[in-house]
Amino acid sequence: MLTKKEKMKSSGKKKGKRIDSRRAIESDMAARRQRFYDSGAPASILMLILFIVLATIILTLNLSIQGTSGNIWPGFKTLLVYGAIMMFLSIGMGLYVAAHQLRIIQNHLRGSVLLACLLIMIVLVRLGVRQDWSAYLIVVPVMITAIMMTIAYSQRFALGLSAFLGMVSVLALAENETITFQEGMGALLATGSGTGIAILMLREIRTRTKLIEVCCVAGIVVFAMTIVLGLWQNKEWQPLLQTGAWGAGGTIAVGFVMQGLLPLIERVFRVCTNMTLLDYSGATRPLLRRLAVEAPGTFNHSWQIGMLSEAAAEAIGANGLLCRVGSYYHDVGKLIKPRYFVENQAENVNQHKELSPTMSRMIIIGHVKDGLELLREYKIPKVLHQFTATHHGTTVVVYFYHEATKKESEDGRAVPDTEFRYPGPKPKTKESAIVMLADAVEGASRAMQEPTPSRIENVVTNMAMVRLQDGQFDECDLTMRELHQIEESLVKSLCGMYHGRIAYPKQEKLAKNQTDKMKTTNAI
Ligand SMILES: [Fe+2]
Ligand SMILES: [Fe+2]
Repeated sequence: MLTKKEKMKSSGKKKGKRIDSRRAIESDMAARRQRFYDSGAPASILMLILFIVLATIILTLNLSIQGTSGNIWPGFKTLLVYGAIMMFLSIGMGLYVAAHQLRIIQNHLRGSVLLACLLIMIVLVRLGVRQDWSAYLIVVPVMITAIMMTIAYSQRFALGLSAFLGMVSVLALAENETITFQEGMGALLATGSGTGIAILMLREIRTRTKLIEVCCVAGIVVFAMTIVLGLWQNKEWQPLLQTGAWGAGGTIAVGFVMQGLLPLIERVFRVCTNMTLLDYSGATRPLLRRLAVEAPGTFNHSWQIGMLSEAAAEAIGANGLLCRVGSYYHDVGKLIKPRYFVENQAENVNQHKELSPTMSRMIIIGHVKDGLELLREYKIPKVLHQFTATHHGTTVVVYFYHEATKKESEDGRAVPDTEFRYPGPKPKTKESAIVMLADAVEGASRAMQEPTPSRIENVVTNMAMVRLQDGQFDECDLTMRELHQIEESLVKSLCGMYHGRIAYPKQEKLAKNQTDKMKTTNAI
């Protein structure tokens, strides 16, 4: 039997535990609330509510007015029904956006642009319906949205968004009493199949006519689907062909319009298509032309890295073109002091001889910052800046670090390697990690006297391992398997590049001198 004192003690302990657990739950709830506010979700929810209200007003504007004559209930009921359907569809869309493109929730400008585009498309559908145009013309706004979303975001996201808009468009068709439910469903099916084909074909835009080609194929699909659905509904041939021609014509017209609007879409959504990348890959671009004239060694080095990194990126399914064009610009900062970089130095001339290792370090590290300034000055697309900023990550300028260590050890002082590290950042994408590795192995294999496949393989493996252990790939989502595939591709490309290069006895001395100089390449 417990005494009264013991009972009080045990109930006190239980009470204490309860208070502790309540405090823990409260602090957990507070942290969750804070995370919710920080995620930008409250503003996005408000925007979604505004979108539902505006979309309902656009869809019911005339219907509500019709209903208000005499009895207000029919008009109010229409408003209520449309509002409820829009709410359910929009909540689904919001959740889909949050799941697949979180940056739209976090960036309110992106969210507003997306919702404004959808509202404009709903207005277009409504105008078409009021003009008694063919129901199959809903393919036009849906196709425009699908192409925009594929270019700006991704194919999967575009599929989701166009499905949402397709359903809202069918809702708008209900206003026209001459359009039957079967016809509305037929228009949705034809639109869905055409849009699906267009999205799947739009993986890359590498040619100027790509959008037109894609929309022509989608137009054929829409036409075929319209005919099949019309035959199913036992329609007459003449109106059937006419409807099919409307749908197909509208889809093809979208291709021409979107081709013209592509630069605007790129600017509004701040994206860079492969076509723009191709534009910036030409050696006649002012900054690349300047690099070729003022730092020909760096220009040549960048071109070789472009080849290496493009092949490596394609080996793992990354964007090869982005890697190639990014490589062309990765070392443009060397334009400011080209003679201080080994690839631009004449025979036996080393500008660093007269400088202290600390001074040399400042010049070498400075080319990253100078490069970024040049990219801004020449208005090079933002997507290419990452290669200049991250191609050295936070690695050590090895050559000058060793020079400094040698000097300082004579004075009995130790030099921390942090003083000789690039400021970063580390690569954040697979593409920038590939360019970092290609840059390192190109310099190292160039310094080899007799590049045999096994030596090249050793150099590539060592360079990759050193960077991996140094944590340079910590911030990008590169897997070990992909790293291995990149290494294999680099070895293959380098073997092809140095195939047939043999060191003759007379060249050995020259090669040795070059090796000393090239050692700095890894560091630079
Ligand atoms: Fe560099
Ligand atoms: Fe480089």
